[in-house]
Amino acid sequence: MELRHLRYFVAVAEERNFTRAAERLHIAQPPLSRQIQQLEEDLGVQLFERQSRPLRLTDTGRFFYTHALRVLAQTAELEAMTRRVGQIERKMQVGFVGSTLYGMLPRIIRRFRSEHSDIELSLHEMSTMDQIKALKEGRIDVGFGRIRHEDPAVRRVVLREERMIVALPVGHPLGEGRQELSLHELVGETLIIFPKAPRPSYADQVLAAFHDRALKPRRIQEVRELQIALGLVAAGEGISVVPSSVHGLKRDDVTYVELDDPNLVSPIIMSMRMLDESADLRAMQEMIYRLYEEAGIAYLPPTQE
Ligand code: BEZ
Repeated sequence: MELRHLRYFVAVAEERNFTRAAERLHIAQPPLSRQIQQLEEDLGVQLFERQSRPLRLTDTGRFFYTHALRVLAQTAELEAMTRRVGQIERKMQVGFVGSTLYGMLPRIIRRFRSEHSDIELSLHEMSTMDQIKALKEGRIDVGFGRIRHEDPAVRRVVLREERMIVALPVGHPLGEGRQELSLHELVGETLIIFPKAPRPSYADQVLAAFHDRALKPRRIQEVRELQIALGLVAAGEGISVVPSSVHGLKRDDVTYVELDDPNLVSPIIMSMRMLDESADLRAMQEMIYRLYEEAGIAYLPPTQE
């Protein structure tokens, strides 16, 4: 059995049709059918229920499918890592969710570039869930996101828990002379959340914060991204619960007020391939903690989740 057989089998199992699978693989249908037949003969099992239309996997086929996917993912990981190890000119692809741009990300990237001028860094904005996929496919080497997503191929380190704050239109009565607000005081307002898609996202962390306290905002408006949420807040459409680093994004038409509950936080999570032990990644992680120390930012002890 060769890797090619696994790729062919997965395509047929997912398309549930030989013609579509052959198109997806850019090969003709007869050789594809022969390869699947050969695979079944080599294994001495039936993987598809031949009479079914669309094609259905047998129980053995379902077992084989799950494990074939895993082997293909590990192969892609091995290819990506080996390519990286062998690169003469070193490169690091970094995925990040938009909101980390208002935190330490720009400073981290600037410092890393100045301390490691031999490494070429490229930045890619993508959701946490897309980062997981991109890591496994070797399109990025490290991701900075906010969602705790379990994946056996991905190693996560929670760098810090960032406090949430409230963004209000300037002159809003809730912002007048207040140092702190509780979520409870916000339920009469329209809550503007972001990003609308893909989910789960930071939007769900904000919704969970209300839900966990048995609170229900009067109205919820979902928008594409943080900048739009702040623009709508400025226009008086509602309020938004944002990561505290957004505070640095000074706008004279928006007031920021802290929340009184220290449990209202959103994590910043660094994700890497489970088997990637590269010195460049270690250097980046160590540099992040150094920058936190320099900036007096509270962080979590460097353990892996
Ligand atoms: C931070 O704000 O702590 C942060 C943002 C992006 C990457 C790493 C850390």
